Amino acid sequence: MTLDELVEIYERRAARPYGLEGVSQLEHALQTATIAQDAGQPDTLVVAALLHDVGHMVHGLGENPAGTGVDDRHEALGAAALVGLFPDSVCEPIRLHVAAKRYLVASDPLYHARLSKDSIVSLAVQGGPMSNVDMNTFSAETWFQHALSLRKFDEEAKIPNALTPSFRDFLPLLEACRLSR
Ligand SMILES: [Fe+2]
Ligand SMILES: [Fe+2]
Repeated sequence: MTLDELVEIYERRAARPYGLEGVSQLEHALQTATIAQDAGQPDTLVVAALLHDVGHMVHGLGENPAGTGVDDRHEALGAAALVGLFPDSVCEPIRLHVAAKRYLVASDPLYHARLSKDSIVSLAVQGGPMSNVDMNTFSAETWFQHALSLRKFDEEAKIPNALTPSFRDFLPLLEACRLSR
């Protein structure tokens, strides 16, 4: 994956719907990044927020695989696609953002009630709430806290017609966080 390919993905392919919500993949990405930025998060976590669902756009499983009972493993696909371009501080929160949802649902009874419809549907195909053993393993991950933060921004970023910067506005941040060639 190159930066040019990312721009191509977000400018050409990301206008499609995001799961069952009334926002496109592009709107969801820009909102997640903007929420992270407004929360004063490090640049690498803002970039992770921007790109966290890129895995949905690098497979051929259609617009809403979770709705048909398929886990597209987009967190792993996305992290794997970005691993040569960005450091672990970007790729690892992306890889762990679905696990973070499963962790939060298991650890906080109120979190499930706050999930959007599409998140509840996808939770079922992603394995449901974590077991205690998996929670222990997950909480030992180096990027555990960043993954939890990312997942919380993700859930908030589903607001139809919210105003955000454009994808190109984030290019300087992408350039600053990328691995040197
Ligand atoms: Fe996701
Ligand atoms: Fe997301």
